[in-house]
Amino acid sequence: MQFRARILGAAAGGGLPQWNCGCENCDLARAGKIPSQTQSSVAVSANGTDWAVLNASPDIRLQIAATPPLHPTDLRETPLKSVLLTNGDIDHVAGLLSLREQQPFTVFATGEIHDVLNDNPIFSAVNPDIVDRATVTLGAPVEIVPGLTAELFPVPGKVPLYLEGETVQTDLEGEQTVGVHLRVGDASVYYIPGCAAMTDDLAARIAGAALVFFDGTLWRDDEMVQAGLSHKTGKRMGHMSMSGADGSIAAFAGLDVAQKVFVHMNNTNPVLRPTSDERQQAEAAGWVIAQDGMEVTL
Ligand code: MLT
Ligand code: MN
Ligand code: ZN
Repeated sequence: MQFRARILGAAAGGGLPQWNCGCENCDLARAGKIPSQTQSSVAVSANGTDWAVLNASPDIRLQIAATPPLHPTDLRETPLKSVLLTNGDIDHVAGLLSLREQQPFTVFATGEIHDVLNDNPIFSAVNPDIVDRATVTLGAPVEIVPGLTAELFPVPGKVPLYLEGETVQTDLEGEQTVGVHLRVGDASVYYIPGCAAMTDDLAARIAGAALVFFDGTLWRDDEMVQAGLSHKTGKRMGHMSMSGADGSIAAFAGLDVAQKVFVHMNNTNPVLRPTSDERQQAEAAGWVIAQDGMEVTL
């Protein structure tokens, strides 16, 4: 048994390029000058044969096609045994609809995230008689594929954009936004693609980990505002930024995490340009910027 991860999609919701975006990065990606990236998802395995997908992105069909270990092994046999959801955002759940072809697998999520799916009749296309909906209790590890357990824990975040009311709490800690502690034997890995702030609890939890995949949505909090694309800051979207005194690079500086990998990059993030100053800065601080197809093994 060996922990194995494959980045299916390194970008945040929208992907790179995003269909309606003419920002510098999206234009460069369309021109083939920087690599395109699909939307947020990671596949993990302990035996190399059975795989769990962490978050089902709208790009999952192409992601599976581009990933030989996930290809069918017989007429209706697939290595994809389960999908685990860390929130109810569209970029993390819409891919379930592409997995609707009467194929058995298990969807692992908290009760509140299952409620979001159950409240939306379109998800009944993923036939619950065939696709098991397993409710995961915070703090209780479950085996999501043979030899690999996942324990969910709350991280600061918010409800999905499409469920936002008049006022929005962006540092909610409960079942709506979770991080995942993955274990294969003694190997300990964290997957946290959305996180609004580094709390003392979270810092203590991940300190000393062998590998952390972490929210890399924005380089700076007002990046989308500055680019003239949105009035929303990263904090308003429930994401802490990479740079700055309260950013993730600073927050991880004393945590002794052996391998740090940014995932879920928004298409405006300058680290998506391999030669940018910001990319060099992140790498100098010991971070890897994920990209589609990248593998990490322990
Ligand atoms: C996010 O990560 O902030 C969301 O995926 C945004 C969205 O739903 O478009
Ligand atoms: Mn997202
Ligand atoms: Zn863009």
